[in-house]
Amino acid sequence: MNNDSPTHYGRTTRFLHWAMALLIVLQFLKLGDRIEDGEHWIGQTFVPWHVSIGVVIFALAVLRLWWAVLQRPHRPQPEASPAVVRLGHFLLYACMFLMPMTGLAALLGGGYGLTVFGVDIVTKTEVETPWLAAIGNLHSPIAWVFVALVVGHIAAALFHHFVRRDQTLRRMLGQ
Ligand code: HEM
Ligand code: HEM
Repeated sequence: MNNDSPTHYGRTTRFLHWAMALLIVLQFLKLGDRIEDGEHWIGQTFVPWHVSIGVVIFALAVLRLWWAVLQRPHRPQPEASPAVVRLGHFLLYACMFLMPMTGLAALLGGGYGLTVFGVDIVTKTEVETPWLAAIGNLHSPIAWVFVALVVGHIAAALFHHFVRRDQTLRRMLGQ
């Protein structure tokens, strides 16, 4: 089924969840630039696609938010601590938007231009725009918050599955 129901997440929700989770984890590999200036296979294989993947995540986040609003009335509801679960999911959504926005601000504010999958969208000017660059400086701190939220989110999913032994993870796996 494509739509969500009170007991299941539909195909579209699951596709958006797992495809974006994979892309976001690939984006986190950018933190590996701190090791030997990124001169290793991770840095050379995935990180060159950072901006392009980030733009794809931005587009998927818009689609996912629209889909979540449509599905909300008949989606599975949290069984315990609904306020904490909702806050956690809200913050994950916030990061899915803030990361691409601040990433774009870092590039455009620094006058580096924007190239997506080899296509020049904004030409390099080499002229700095300080207020945009200042917003861009938030990219790294927000990335760390995002990493912490994702670690907490995964821990919660595993807790539900292995300790509480409920349906939370299974319904996101389509079982
Ligand atoms: C969900 C999407 C994204 C995630 C999770 C993400 C994550 C990250 C991470 C973890 C770093 C390393 C920060 C550090 O070393 O402290 C980074 C750096 C960077 N990212 Fe992203 N990013 C995303 C989207 C984007 C987009 C869309 C762009 C540009 C259009 C972008 C441009 C940059 C740039 C220029 C840097 C290096 C400078 C800096 O740390 O601010 N990112 N990103
Ligand atoms: C970067 C990685 C991830 C992000 C940003 C993320 C984000 C989200 C968000 C926003 C939701 C709320 C439903 C929705 O609107 O889609 C959700 C649900 C869920 N996620 Fe993730 N997720 C990530 C990775 C994972 C991983 C790796 C697991 C499993 C170990 C997982 C397990 C779940 C489960 C079980 C739910 C359903 C929770 C419920 O029904 O209350 N997620 N995730």
